Amino acid sequence: MTNPPYILGIESSCDDTSAAVICGTKILSNVIAGQKIHAEFGGVVPELASRAHQQNMIPVVDTALKRAGISKEHISAIAYTNGPGLLGSLLVGSSFAKGMALSLNIPLIVVDHLKAHVLANFLDTEENKPKPEFPFLCLTVSGGHTLLLMVHDYFNMELLGRTIDDAAGEAFDKSAKILGLPYPGGPVVDRLAQQGDPKRFTFSIAKLPDLNFSFSGLKTSFLYFVRDRLKENPNFIEENLNDLAASIQYHIIKSLTDKMEKALKQHKCTNFALSGGVAANSELRKRMTELAEKYNLRVTIPPLALTTDNAAMIACYGYFKYLQEEYAGLDVVPYSSITS
Ligand code: KG4
Ligand code: ZN
Repeated sequence: MTNPPYILGIESSCDDTSAAVICGTKILSNVIAGQKIHAEFGGVVPELASRAHQQNMIPVVDTALKRAGISKEHISAIAYTNGPGLLGSLLVGSSFAKGMALSLNIPLIVVDHLKAHVLANFLDTEENKPKPEFPFLCLTVSGGHTLLLMVHDYFNMELLGRTIDDAAGEAFDKSAKILGLPYPGGPVVDRLAQQGDPKRFTFSIAKLPDLNFSFSGLKTSFLYFVRDRLKENPNFIEENLNDLAASIQYHIIKSLTDKMEKALKQHKCTNFALSGGVAANSELRKRMTELAEKYNLRVTIPPLALTTDNAAMIACYGYFKYLQEEYAGLDVVPYSSITS
């Protein structure tokens, strides 16, 4: 039997520059350079992101190869994020990947960022956790997207529901901003919520009849509530920070788990999965595990490092495409919005 290929993955869709080397589905390295520069602006500034990708790309790829213990001549193919994402950021990764593939004379593979988040569940874990079995339901929750998918195979993912306004990660980040917390707010809210009472404050959750999500009403209800309390007591946020974080987190996670439960009742499958940056949330991980126990199903949740943006998941998607010899030409162009 021939050895599995070495795939170099490149991710640059938003504000993380990442490069990874995998061999089959085994991660040999997964290097991520974040961009602190956006914190002071309370969100990602596209122009600054592209520039930082340009600065970070070569050192990140170099480190990924060194940590994997291979030289560039060993790479079988280069897989990179072609969209969706910030166009200027995507162009940096795409130009780099094309140049490197051309100079090494190896195949180039384009990867959809959102599908790659789902396939993060197929990378080997240290605990050797079992992988999802097709077909499975997957909730993909990130800073830019909230999708409920029926995953029929590595490439065939049927969209059952999506957000009609803000993404779940955006709901976390915007709520955190209302509380004066730094960007990205999701991990901060998660940490503060662990010391707070989730039932202390109540906000309205959208009740859509289908499998779609909506978070903008919840965010507005949270904003007005905090604004009104601040009029009565200027120290309201500081005095109630943990309870505020726990309460808003409770409502965001409840709308996600309620929809997942509805989907599980409507669509027959033996297992389901979670993916995307918000899948790092401790409350969501707990609730999804409880849901699996309730319905006697198996749930797969990626390890923390593979939930947020990383190039190992890009390489993983690339690996499955490599097996099918599904390569791209040099004329392929990045796209900013979700395709299907
Ligand atoms: O997948 P990701 O790294 O980037 C996108 O593709 O958007 O997701 C980033 C999002 C941010 O909104 C961030 O606040 C959220 O994931 N996030 C979390 C946690 N860790 C990251 N949200 C809630 N709890 C967390 N622990
Ligand atoms: Zn992402």
